[in-house]
Amino acid sequence: MKKFKDKEILITGAGSGIGRATALAFAEVGARLWLSDINDDGNAETARLARAHGATVRTLQCNVADAESVAAMAATVHAEIEALDIVMNNAGIGSAGRFLDTTLETWRRVMDINLMGVVHGCHAFLPNMVERGQGGHIINTASAAAFIAAPDMPIYAASKFAVRGFTEALRGDMAKHNIGVTAICPGIINTPIVANSIMEGQMNNAERHRKVVQFYQKRNYTPEQVARVVLEAVRKNVAVQPVSPEAWGMYYAKRFMPGIIGKLSERELPF
Ligand SMILES: NC(=O)c1ccc[n+]([C@@H]2O[C@H](COP(=O)([O-])OP(=O)(O)OC[C@H]3O[C@@H](n4cnc5c(N)ncnc54)[C@H](O)[C@@H]3O)[C@@H](O)[C@H]2O)c1
Repeated sequence: MKKFKDKEILITGAGSGIGRATALAFAEVGARLWLSDINDDGNAETARLARAHGATVRTLQCNVADAESVAAMAATVHAEIEALDIVMNNAGIGSAGRFLDTTLETWRRVMDINLMGVVHGCHAFLPNMVERGQGGHIINTASAAAFIAAPDMPIYAASKFAVRGFTEALRGDMAKHNIGVTAICPGIINTPIVANSIMEGQMNNAERHRKVVQFYQKRNYTPEQVARVVLEAVRKNVAVQPVSPEAWGMYYAKRFMPGIIGKLSERELPF
């Protein structure tokens, strides 16, 4: 897909961070936006900013972990248009803590949002895109944690490895329908995700949590920088798109130095 003017795009998790910045980047190039989030206030603010760019915007409240909520959102969209052109399954949450400290409740919550949220979005919107027969694009937000699984993030890594695996499988399947499918792997991005992450075990410590938040803020790779790469990745129909330098580093390190990465991951984090 080369041009975005008047394309219908839906973004989940549009009320903050990468979702908001990508919504605004698509607004700037004339796309028509369907903004979705569980958080109405954040979503309304993204809508306000996008309208300031002259974009046509609809807002939809949706919990991506809930298949019925996503199906209801799809029914609302398909009551107005035959099919979306682009779906960005982006909503996600963070979690950190060593495996022995994790609860099954956290496993289910993170997998329901980060993995099943992506599956629900594809399940609800792809049939209409295929049926319409005019192609399109699916963007799934994975992570650099889909390349290297840090011992302090077993749940998050599992969810993002799964998103990447699903995305690659779907890409092969959708090619015959001229629907591109891309996994975005951002890196360390300055958004509120860490402040809102579920912390367990030794990570569940206010001082340590504050230090991780500070680390992301100091790194200060912005969601706007991610958004620019997202648009390019869709234009070029890239399969797996690392974004920040550290994401690229992790992508190549895992490929060419898997033994060293394995040894490094036995060390404690500096937080
Ligand atoms: N910030 C990073 O460093 C980073 C790095 C790699 C990947 N990611 C991924 O990027 C995506 C966006 O993260 P972000 O950094 O912009 O975070 P963020 O916290 O700024 O935004 C996430 C948005 O998702 C929404 N959301 C959370 N649970 C939801 C649910 N159940 N249903 C619908 N919406 C829900 C939140 O309300 C929020 O608006 C996530 O999938 C995240 O895992 C982020």
